[in-house]
Amino acid sequence: MESNGQTNGHRDRHEVREHDILIVGAGGAGLRAAIAAAERGLSVGVVTKSLIGKAHTVMAEGGVAASMGNVDADDGWQTHFMDTMKSGKFLNNWQMVEIFAKEAPERVYELEQWGALFNRTEEGKISQRPFGGHTYRRLCHVGDRTGLEMIRTLQEKTLATDTTVYMETTVTRLFKNDEGQVVGALAYTRESGRFIHFKAKAVVMATGGWGRNYKVTSNSWEGTGDGAVLAYDVGAELVDMEMVQFHPTGMVWPPGVRGLLVTEGVRGEGGILRNSEGERYMENYDSEKMELSTRDVVARANYTEVTEGRGSPHGGVYLDITHLGYNGIMKKLPVMYEQFKNLADIDISKEPMEVFPTIHYVMGGIKVDPETCVTNVPGLFAAGECAGGLHGANRLGGNSLSDLLVFGRRAGEGAAEYAKSNGYSTEIDDSQLETEKQRVLEPLERQDGENPYELQQQVQEAMMEHANLMRNEESLKEGLEKILAIKERVPNVKAHGSTLFNPGWHAAQDVRYLTQISEIILRTALERKERRGAQWHLDYDGPSDELGKINFIVKKDEQGEIGIERREIPPMAEHLSRLFDEGDDKHGGEQQGKESQF
Ligand code: FUM
Repeated sequence: MESNGQTNGHRDRHEVREHDILIVGAGGAGLRAAIAAAERGLSVGVVTKSLIGKAHTVMAEGGVAASMGNVDADDGWQTHFMDTMKSGKFLNNWQMVEIFAKEAPERVYELEQWGALFNRTEEGKISQRPFGGHTYRRLCHVGDRTGLEMIRTLQEKTLATDTTVYMETTVTRLFKNDEGQVVGALAYTRESGRFIHFKAKAVVMATGGWGRNYKVTSNSWEGTGDGAVLAYDVGAELVDMEMVQFHPTGMVWPPGVRGLLVTEGVRGEGGILRNSEGERYMENYDSEKMELSTRDVVARANYTEVTEGRGSPHGGVYLDITHLGYNGIMKKLPVMYEQFKNLADIDISKEPMEVFPTIHYVMGGIKVDPETCVTNVPGLFAAGECAGGLHGANRLGGNSLSDLLVFGRRAGEGAAEYAKSNGYSTEIDDSQLETEKQRVLEPLERQDGENPYELQQQVQEAMMEHANLMRNEESLKEGLEKILAIKERVPNVKAHGSTLFNPGWHAAQDVRYLTQISEIILRTALERKERRGAQWHLDYDGPSDELGKINFIVKKDEQGEIGIERREIPPMAEHLSRLFDEGDDKHGGEQQGKESQF
């Protein structure tokens, strides 16, 4: 039996830091929110459990979608709006999509003014490339490292403001005052385990997604869904949680890099998918858009080819970009060249890549007001991947980067306006603090218990098997049983060692988020009895007209259990729905909610 872990006396003390606005997460959305709030003269604290600049934002490599029309002059916000709604199978919050499509170009130009170095057209405009599901060439890019360039730019801009960044600091709980307003959080530092009570007039969640719920993912260790669970715990509503995106192309070999992203930019630059028989099979799934069909369609196609026995030696399909030649690849996709050369010893200018779907993004998340990004809980805002509503049942590639710019800024502004106008107290009852500190330290203090890594692995395996890109009721139920069994073991998780740089202790915190989110995904997937976008329910033949008008809203009920509400999507404003009638001739527009077999 192990002796008690060293908790370094942290239970008895904590620091207090006070800011007008507390932002949780230092990826693109968090930094854009920080800039917006700091520009309004407020004191801003950004807390990140990782390092500034190390965010999933960098994994959006191929470009940021904005309808500038630099390459295809016919593009405009209306087409971007329609493309986004069609790709999301009309579950999207159409008010968010309208704001998004209209504001994205301005946000990208702003980034250019702040120093982002985009690829250029011959006339010197920002260059735009094609991507799946976008009618026009719309993706402003920096080779195949667009997200990285965006983060670099946002980081420099943030550091030029009066913002304090707390790195390697993990938030474990949001606090509400007696009036039910969110007024701060408890966090601990990874370096020592020291507790910090952050007091704030408003909190913005910008914590990214939860790809780490799955075994094969493009997400790095940070993507455990903390933000959504912390918000849910204080009463925030979550929307579309069943919608989890498999990016069609992740690496499959060698095993250590399985899931690592192969950018959609490869298909944007003309990459061709083939099976082991040499067949260009996208002809059978979407003969019009082929490799540039939407992600849900291409991911299912790749999955089907492999499961029906036409896969490559390592269980993938082939993605061929050799026609670009070495020079073309080095100009347009240099990161992909290096990635395959260094990690798999493959020269992609001479041979095809092997790829297979990988969990990349979540469409579901914290429900927010389209204008201000406030949640249903006063004082709590959300933006970026952890917020839901914009992408509906399937996200278009490149829309995540413009999402975080548009709604990161709106969340920062919304929180700033709220903070300026409120006059209430940020004081909380001390017992909230003490109870949370006790809970966080328990894994170190108990004598023995469950291994957090084992639980984490079991969650990831269960989700991979039962909430994959094709689902059925029996398997979803089996997955739910497994997750509930793991969830029961979470309160007894044991971490060895002390609070100093202790990854096992951090894993003991994360496993709570993973199980909670997994349960929500499975329960909402069981409710959505249809095939729509990322929710491909094999027990049903296609989309349901009725469910096409419904978002599933999740909220903690009075017993502390997951409450699921079927909420009707409000009818689309006439000036927007008219676009689809006009667009039908021009762009081969689809009827609302109509879906092909794939
Ligand atoms: O494939 C990619 O470059 C990813 C882009 C995105 O997720 O938006």
